Amino acid sequence: MLTVSSRVQQTKPSYIRNILKVTQQVDMLSLAGGLPDAELFPLDILAQAAAELERSPGIFQYGATEGLAELRQWLLGDKHLSDDVLITTGSQQALDLIARSYLNPRDKVLCEAPSYLGALQVFDLAEAEVHTVMAELDGPNLAQLEQQLAKHKIKLFYAVPDFQNPSGHCWSLSKRKAVASLLAKYKVALIEDAPYRQLRYQGEPLPTVSELSSYAAFYLGSFSKIATPGMRVGYVKANQALLAPLKKVKQASDLHSALPMQMMLLATVRHPLFAEHLTKLTNAYRARRDYLAALLKQQLKGELTFEVPEGGMFIWARLTRHNAILLAEAALQQKVAIVPGDEFWPSNHTADYQAIRLNFTALIEPQLEQAVIRLKKAIQSCSPN
Ligand SMILES: Cc1ncc(COP(=O)(O)O)c(C=O)c1O
Repeated sequence: MLTVSSRVQQTKPSYIRNILKVTQQVDMLSLAGGLPDAELFPLDILAQAAAELERSPGIFQYGATEGLAELRQWLLGDKHLSDDVLITTGSQQALDLIARSYLNPRDKVLCEAPSYLGALQVFDLAEAEVHTVMAELDGPNLAQLEQQLAKHKIKLFYAVPDFQNPSGHCWSLSKRKAVASLLAKYKVALIEDAPYRQLRYQGEPLPTVSELSSYAAFYLGSFSKIATPGMRVGYVKANQALLAPLKKVKQASDLHSALPMQMMLLATVRHPLFAEHLTKLTNAYRARRDYLAALLKQQLKGELTFEVPEGGMFIWARLTRHNAILLAEAALQQKVAIVPGDEFWPSNHTADYQAIRLNFTALIEPQLEQAVIRLKKAIQSCSPN
């Protein structure tokens, strides 16, 4: 029998993938995924972008590992085309390339707790030792961050400062500055993962932590949440010396990301109607966020507490009386899927068993209403702690 590598065996499976079969049942309402609404994809713009491809037959040829020059130039803005950006197959691949380029088994990575499950999986596969720092509403707890940086020889700090998955938290400017200077003081490289940055529903955009940083930083961008995730186009910005090993790993991994998708994506974001699409998208998601928040307050008063996030895709709620794993099971019985919060802690860490993550972008208002009614029934059917 072929034995699976210990790396893969010890990697935490994704809860969402595990329950996919159940969530795909026709009568199931899912607040569990992290999906954008397919009805809001910019299909007209995409169709035009696809039609233009036949004018450039060379786009169907093999291409450069670093990605399509025109897209890289667009991402670099006014700067001359340089090697400071690498196009990846979704920003998820950038995470994997960084881990495979820089981590040896037992190297130490620091993450906020809770953290994005897909990043935790990448660090497990790299056999890294994952440490955590408590996430607060306005960013990581700074005293704990400094303590962890001083105590462990941390190599990489992974964070999602804009509307984090799962917590929805957005770091304040002062915490962005403080984290950047602590990382420089302890010479720890930053991975800033920013797929939700453009999904802001209120308030002003803040500088990225990478911009404020004077030490090594990788900035991961994605088109999945603002265009479509199926095209699998993302990128990583960092100085070229930092990106050089990633290019080598990418060559071995997939040679390069699909060129027709990169070209279509570029035509999409440059299209004169793309700004209008983004406004429509953020207006729709803002309305759904507000709708779900109001429903939770009315229907589940006393059962949970939460802050309304300024952007992103999730409401992170703390149950006042119930265990989240038991509630998630009871919710499936009532045909609504939620993710229990403990999923977002690294294995072997003490997790929060009373938190749940609720996605508000994939369902429309009447479905959100039905989902909350079902969640209420699940709470009623489930005995408290
Ligand atoms: C925090 C975070 N990073 C990265 C990703 C992966 O995005 P992409 O589709 O660009 O690979 C996701 C997807 O949900 C995410 O939530």
